[in-house]
Amino acid sequence: MSQFVRKAVFPVAGLGTRFLPATKANPKEMLPIVDKPLIQYAVEEALDAGIKDLIFVTGRNKRSIPDHFDKAYELENELEKKQKIKMLDMVRNIVPDDVTCIYIRQAEALGLGHAVLCAKAALGNEPFAVILADDLIDNPARGCLRQMVEAFEEYHRSIIAVETVPRDETYRYGIVSATDVTDRVKKMTGIVEKPKPEEAPTNLAVVGRYVFTPGILKQLQDTGRGAGGEIQLTDAIAGMLDKEDVYSLEFDGQRYDCGSKLGYLQANVEFGLKHPELSERFSAWLGSLKF
Ligand code: UTP
Repeated sequence: MSQFVRKAVFPVAGLGTRFLPATKANPKEMLPIVDKPLIQYAVEEALDAGIKDLIFVTGRNKRSIPDHFDKAYELENELEKKQKIKMLDMVRNIVPDDVTCIYIRQAEALGLGHAVLCAKAALGNEPFAVILADDLIDNPARGCLRQMVEAFEEYHRSIIAVETVPRDETYRYGIVSATDVTDRVKKMTGIVEKPKPEEAPTNLAVVGRYVFTPGILKQLQDTGRGAGGEIQLTDAIAGMLDKEDVYSLEFDGQRYDCGSKLGYLQANVEFGLKHPELSERFSAWLGSLKF
């Protein structure tokens, strides 16, 4: 197995029901935070971590994702004619030339685990990352995936991103039990999906970033349908714990759960306040709101 993480899987085939009707004909991952779609933030985080192959697992109504990362001849011609050079550079340089985009179709939304398994043919016997674009993680100095790839290079173990959540929210997450390796790195001893607060072993929650050894693919193949009739990534991680060590990493960064309306709005406000074109006027307007 190579020790370098060069491939990332972006599962983008979910139905996005919490954002209906916005997601009826458009993928949730194309929802913008201010002026950039969620999937582009995720891709930028992967590029920052040294990823060279971007593998998108797409479903119905997802054509706008390949379009977004493809060349846009008409738009580029128009911008060139109008000499809008800055904008032209922006739309041309979304993905650098040495990076490959691969699209794989998940015919049916059979769960996150199934979506990752759909990417198998493009993965080979290499470690790889999985990024859920609806978990937006902000750390301009050192992206979350970069921190995880560095941890993988140090420990040569699968690395799962975790953060502490309020106890009354454990029912929304995969929750891990683990023993300390360092301050931020732990060796996982268990993982349970969405436990009730009184049954949760800890309040350490899995968020949408993973670096896996290829062992997870074999495990996914052996994992039957779990909760909701879906192949659950959490079940496969639990199965893998018997066979190889899996580590968790408490990353440094601010996470926004953009799969929920509240998290999505919070991200828009915070990114709006930092946006070079908007920060002053937006913060003045926010300050003037009466509650
Ligand atoms: P979610 O659990 O957020 O589901 O999936 P969802 O369908 O996107 O959204 P809601 O809950 O209905 O609002 C987590 C991630 O896994 C992907 C989703 O696209 C999302 O990035 N996913 C989920 C798939 O690619 N395929 C699936 O079958 C299920």
